[in-house]
Amino acid sequence: MALQDFLYACTQMAHNFGAVAVTAGAIFALWPARQSPAVLRQLAWLVLIGWALQAISGATLGAISYAFQGRLPDIHGIASAALFLKMACAASGFFLAAIYLRFAAGWSTQGVNAAWSCLAALAVIALSAAAFLRWFS
Ligand code: HEM
Repeated sequence: MALQDFLYACTQMAHNFGAVAVTAGAIFALWPARQSPAVLRQLAWLVLIGWALQAISGATLGAISYAFQGRLPDIHGIASAALFLKMACAASGFFLAAIYLRFAAGWSTQGVNAAWSCLAALAVIALSAAAFLRWFS
C-alpha cells in the first residue's frame, strides 16, 4: 500500500502542476495585460506541455489503480461525466495550443485573444470537473 500511495502522490504532484500550467499560463496571456507575441509563444509551449502532462499523468493515475487493484476505479454517473469532460478538455487544449504555435503568426488580435480565452475556459472547465470527479467517485 505504501508503494501505491507513494506512486499516486508523485503522479498527482505532476497532475497538480500541470493544472497550474494550463490555467495560469492561459490567464497570464491576457491578464493583467496582454503579453507580447514572443511571450505568448512561450506561454503557448508551457500550456501545450501542460495539457500533455495532464493527459499522461491522468492516465498514469488510472494505470496505478489497475496495476495494484487489477481493475480501474469503479466510477459512474457524475464522476464518469466529469472524467470524460476532463479528457475532452485535455485533447482540445492540446490541439488548440498546437494550432496556435503553428498558425498564430498570421492571426488578427481578435483571433489571438479568442484562442487564449478559449484555452483559459478549457482550463477552468477541467479544474471544475476535477472537483466533481473527486467527490462523486
Ligand atoms: C486525460 C485527462 C485526465 C485524466 C485521465 C485525469 C484523471 C484524474 C484522476 C484519476 C484523478 C484522481 C481522482 C481522485 O482521486 O478522486 C485526478 C485528479 C485531479 N485532476 Fe485530473 N485527469 C485528467 C485531466 C485533468 C485536467 C485537464 C485537470 C485540470 C486542468 C485536472 C485536474 C485534476 C485535479 C486538480 C485533481 C485532484 C482533485 C482532488 O483530489 O481534489 N485533471 N485526475
